[in-house]
Amino acid sequence: QERRFRDSVADIPTTPTAPRRSDEREPAGETFTNAVDSDPALPQVREWAHEVVAASPAPLTSRVLGTVAEVDEVVATGRAAQPAWAARPAAERAAVLRRAADELEARRGELITQMIHEGGKTIDQADPEVSEAIDFARYYADRALELDPGASLHTDGARFTPDVLTLVTPPWNFPVAIPIGGVLAALAAGSAVVIKPAPAVPGCTEIAMAALHAAGVPGDVAQVVRSDEGEAGRALVSHEGVDTVILTGAAETAELFISWRHGRPHGPRVLGETSGKNALVITPSADYDLAVADLVKSAFGHAGQKCSAASLAILVGSAGRSERLRRQLVDAVRSLRVGWPTDLTTTMGPVIEPPTGKLERSLTRLEPGETWLVEPRQLDDTGRLWSPGLKDNVAPGSFFHRTEAFGPVLGLMYADDLDEAIELQNATDFGLTGGLHSLDEGEIEHWLSRVEVGNAYVNRHITGAIVRRQSFGGWKSSSVGPGAKAGGPNYVAQLGTWAPDGVPA
Ligand code: ALA
Repeated sequence: QERRFRDSVADIPTTPTAPRRSDEREPAGETFTNAVDSDPALPQVREWAHEVVAASPAPLTSRVLGTVAEVDEVVATGRAAQPAWAARPAAERAAVLRRAADELEARRGELITQMIHEGGKTIDQADPEVSEAIDFARYYADRALELDPGASLHTDGARFTPDVLTLVTPPWNFPVAIPIGGVLAALAAGSAVVIKPAPAVPGCTEIAMAALHAAGVPGDVAQVVRSDEGEAGRALVSHEGVDTVILTGAAETAELFISWRHGRPHGPRVLGETSGKNALVITPSADYDLAVADLVKSAFGHAGQKCSAASLAILVGSAGRSERLRRQLVDAVRSLRVGWPTDLTTTMGPVIEPPTGKLERSLTRLEPGETWLVEPRQLDDTGRLWSPGLKDNVAPGSFFHRTEAFGPVLGLMYADDLDEAIELQNATDFGLTGGLHSLDEGEIEHWLSRVEVGNAYVNRHITGAIVRRQSFGGWKSSSVGPGAKAGGPNYVAQLGTWAPDGVPA
């Protein structure tokens, strides 16, 4: 029975979906899967849906680190294994990464199942995440070739020396693409790597790492370990034998990691993509149908639990007075089907744990001047199922204007003109994603030249960055370190040092 299930899910074809983006084109002849926040192959999904629902999450297999001595051992193992990995010709390492892409594709069904059961992801969110991991493997394989000492990149005679050991500490909300993206980047550089999955979702990462090992990545070059955030976790993050920590998580966590790593041999070396407070601006020239669809997708995909999620919509001029736009938005928010993702008709799944802190305040309280257009409600005793919230009249400078909620709640703000909207959009400490819906070229140019975000999207949803085409990273407090973007040309080259090696003749 289980065997048949594996075969049938492996047969699901990849479904590249053309993203709606106005400003970039796909180079011809490339083989990326173009992960976007797309709908999966629904007809095929229906065929094996009952089996996904019946499946159990895979048993966990990775090592749990309990003591500092065990941390030392893992670090020593990685460091000892690295020279042989780095010494392999770049073409050979790239070939391993390409095989990893194929092995990930072969596990697409398993990965989706695990993300549904363990990560609370709906299938439309889980499927493109597998595509993104596959794209990272192929893209970073190409970057490995560029770092080869013979590559033309080295016109100044500089020599790239990879980090010996990279630690990847990913978040729980993208349990496949983000951890595996970090691991693949380190491997492409020639570094050994330790991955510590987020405690809520280790199984997803373990399955993906099994794909890498099946592709030929040695177990000691890429180790998976689990630990809580206690003594062993801190010992790992702050270890002298770890050259670079790749963190995706809260801005507060980045600060903590940097403080732990002060005085390390290579400096703190934390590369981080952290929190966001992201807005999508809608001007009167926009196509409101598209704008509403993209807004709802950006705000409520994975129940708003993405650093990239739209948390604010800023309506400009007459867009803010449009009854049609407001009605459409309210209807679209109400039409989300909230439930557990094992019910494949669910369009918005659970939050990872009962809301506390900023999310609880965002879902259960109104700040002065705000009203609910759609009031969120807790739907069951687990505390994890919440209907989506839409709050009106978020005030400039207020709690909800400036604080990341990380959950299913969207606020509306109003601006007299585009400049005021951009000012509101930029008036947070963060600068991760931002969007504009406008069909006016002048507005688009103006907005692009002023918005302070790492990822600016025009006439498109603001989640679901695409490897190589729309690499992903932040600005201002949304970024830690030099800020090269994941899935972009400079990411791998940060995982090492550049030393002069004589000027070529
Ligand atoms: N890379 C993820 C996105 O773009 C966070 O939505």
